Amino acid sequence: RMPPVSQCYNLLDFEDIARQTMKKTAWAYYSSGADDEITLRENHAAFHRIWFRPKVLVDVSRIDLSTTMLGCPCSVPFYVTATALGKLGNPEGEVVLTRAGYRENVIQMIPTLASCSFDEIVDAKQGDQIQWLQLYVNQDREITRKIVQHAEKRGCRALWITVDAPQLGRREKDMRSKYDEQAANVQDNESTVDRSQGAARAISSFIDPSLSWKDIPWFQSITKMPIVLKGVQRAEDAIKAVEYGVDAILLSNHGGRQLDFARPGIEVLAEVMAALRQHGYEHKIEVYIDGGIRRGTDILKAICMGAKGVGIGRPFLYAMSTYGETGVVRAMQLLKDELTMNMRLIGATKISDLDESFVDVGSISTH
Ligand code: FNR
Repeated sequence: RMPPVSQCYNLLDFEDIARQTMKKTAWAYYSSGADDEITLRENHAAFHRIWFRPKVLVDVSRIDLSTTMLGCPCSVPFYVTATALGKLGNPEGEVVLTRAGYRENVIQMIPTLASCSFDEIVDAKQGDQIQWLQLYVNQDREITRKIVQHAEKRGCRALWITVDAPQLGRREKDMRSKYDEQAANVQDNESTVDRSQGAARAISSFIDPSLSWKDIPWFQSITKMPIVLKGVQRAEDAIKAVEYGVDAILLSNHGGRQLDFARPGIEVLAEVMAALRQHGYEHKIEVYIDGGIRRGTDILKAICMGAKGVGIGRPFLYAMSTYGETGVVRAMQLLKDELTMNMRLIGATKISDLDESFVDVGSISTH
């Protein structure tokens, strides 16, 4: 039996309920990471190695969480990241995230491999709601050009090119459960399993493993949307991104689903910010991180260390799969509550107050 949504007090509660109530296939696809899932585990654990240095006696009666990301105004410095196959968890798919995003003024990144069509997700947008596009680059560049230009025409405000997945990672939990489910599927008569297998196959077949830095100017020539590289993992590539005129980078390991033993985004952030500062590049590019962000404190730590914003994946999928739109709205509100309280407790009233002086990164190396 499902507890009422009001009994979810943090994002991890949604994960617990999802584990107990979601269909096995969907749970396996959403929750799995690559190989031994060490990166998956460390993504969140890495935040536990960073401590705060609060200021006291600051007037914190008013807290403002609003900010901009890629020039887009938003109520909070987090966004709903792109995750494939929304209909595995909720029959309505990604539009549930769109509606919740509208209610809470949170930006949504639309995945190339959404269960809903791209136009359905854009049509679900309300008012001046903001959406971005996540792109898997096709070997057929004409297809890619059409996707990008259509997204721009439909009002998408940024292009996030996934650069950490020239080949799909091995997620064994997912592979096993699909195998089981395939057997069960005969009686089950549902198309979800085939869809996901189809997508997995599609990912490895259409994504272009030859994608390289040489392609960046072409993307800049076909769109005016700001371009973000999704999945940068070392300082040298961050520097290169600036030199190629890219607008932003996302330090990410794809939620631990690609290379196991890739470092947590928050650790890469320390290295990247140090390198950007060394080159005088810190104002030339926006830096984002994702992976394992589950608490308001995780978000604050990232912002203090130089991130402009953070992406959140699984928690919203779990909330969507268990309580639908209400769940996602609740998850977003919980994060806002945590952020507001944590800002008060560290002595900051607005996002632009946050800087490195508020954190003690301790053992985290900055190379
Ligand atoms: C993803 N992610 C992802 N990224 C991407 O560029 N294209 C995609 O299609 C997907 N699909 C996808 C599916 C699922 C089920 C998950 C969990 C993740 C990665 C995603 O954008 C993001 O990097 C991570 O999800 C962030 O980590 P957390 O918040 O899930 O820990």
